[in-house]
Amino acid sequence: MHHFQYKGNDLYCEDMAVEKIAKEVGTPFYLYSKETLEHHFKVFDKAFLDVPHITCYAVKANSNIAILDIFGSLGSGADIVSGGELFRALRAGMSPDRIVYSGVGKKIEEIDFALKSNILMFNIESSQELEVINQRTEKLGKKARISIRINPDVDPKTHPYISTGLKKSKFGIDIKKALNEYRRSRELKNIEVVGVDCHIGSQITEIGPFRDAVRKIREIVVTLASEGFAIKYLDLGGGLGIPYHVEEPPQPDEYARTIIEEVRGLGCTLILEPGRLLVGNAGILVTKVLYTKDGEEKSFVIVDAGMNDLIRPSIYGSFHFIQPVKKEERKNAMVDVVGPVCESGDFLASARQMPEARPGELLAVMSAGAYGFAMSSNYNSRPRVAEVLVQGDRYYIIRKRETFEDLIRLEEIQE
Ligand code: LLP
Repeated sequence: MHHFQYKGNDLYCEDMAVEKIAKEVGTPFYLYSKETLEHHFKVFDKAFLDVPHITCYAVKANSNIAILDIFGSLGSGADIVSGGELFRALRAGMSPDRIVYSGVGKKIEEIDFALKSNILMFNIESSQELEVINQRTEKLGKKARISIRINPDVDPKTHPYISTGLKKSKFGIDIKKALNEYRRSRELKNIEVVGVDCHIGSQITEIGPFRDAVRKIREIVVTLASEGFAIKYLDLGGGLGIPYHVEEPPQPDEYARTIIEEVRGLGCTLILEPGRLLVGNAGILVTKVLYTKDGEEKSFVIVDAGMNDLIRPSIYGSFHFIQPVKKEERKNAMVDVVGPVCESGDFLASARQMPEARPGELLAVMSAGAYGFAMSSNYNSRPRVAEVLVQGDRYYIIRKRETFEDLIRLEEIQE
């Protein structure tokens, strides 16, 4: 469910005409619906209502502090993967005792920042990381609560770049070795083992892989309990997919029911780390058609947003619906929708049937709220676009469009 619908021929975000915002803000820009964001969080969180749990929004999906503030106000915690994300979460007022820290390459400065902030727990991804965190606790006179990220070797059946729980993946610790790490952690004075963690991948559209992973994690928890470990938290990561095109991923309540069923009797608090599910369909990218041209073999619609603004089609071949902001009677055409960036991989859609586009008109690239702005860059010296949040019939600029001055702000010509 989302709030990007046509009223008559005009695309609206809640009660705001997209065209009106474009006139005032310029293009391209990301546009988010507050009601959709809140709705998604509530539906997900409610699905786990019957069990102790913390929903820790995966900040990487969309890290604008206005969005973190919305989720934080609804009681969300945060799943972070860097010092920068911790900074954002704290700045948005999220509570450190609801923050979990994942990632294979935590630097000393980042570890120190997290220790000083008293976050809920570190999800440990290697033996050496555990060692380093222990050293830093001694140095700072702090304790670290940890869980070990298990690599359960489950195929999430998604794009290889976003599969993270396979044997060959860099993430987590092999399920067999993990037990030894737990035992070893007992000898580390300032380390308090509190949890078990896993995350198998992203944009997962079947329930099976989640069930398989939880079953394996359950076994570990039972073994650990028999060895006297008190496992308080079971962090099951994120990964539930959304409909971009024809996918029909499980609904949050089916996902929750499956998990709750599998963890029954363990007495742990669940931690869930949804990212895409909360923000993906709550955002669009609005872009203007600059030119159209017919090549020998293909027709192109050239728009003012490029791969630097939304890189998902270029790197994962992902599908995003592209719709006119103003509907009108016209023929369909088979086109590539491409950006101004000097790379052949710069496309938002390829071989797409869509209403014939006109120069100057606005297009909406749908389902762009997750991993859209967050993965954008300044490639080709393109200022990053504005981000706009709609609530009812009002809009707020939650990130200004960058200027040319912003592009060179940190640079210096040698004396
Ligand atoms: N927890 C951990 C440890 C993760 O690594 C991720 C995503 C999540 C939670 C959130 O997963 P989600 O619920 O959003 O699926 N850039 C790619 C997606 C990369 C996902 C990385 N990790 C894309 O645009 O599809």
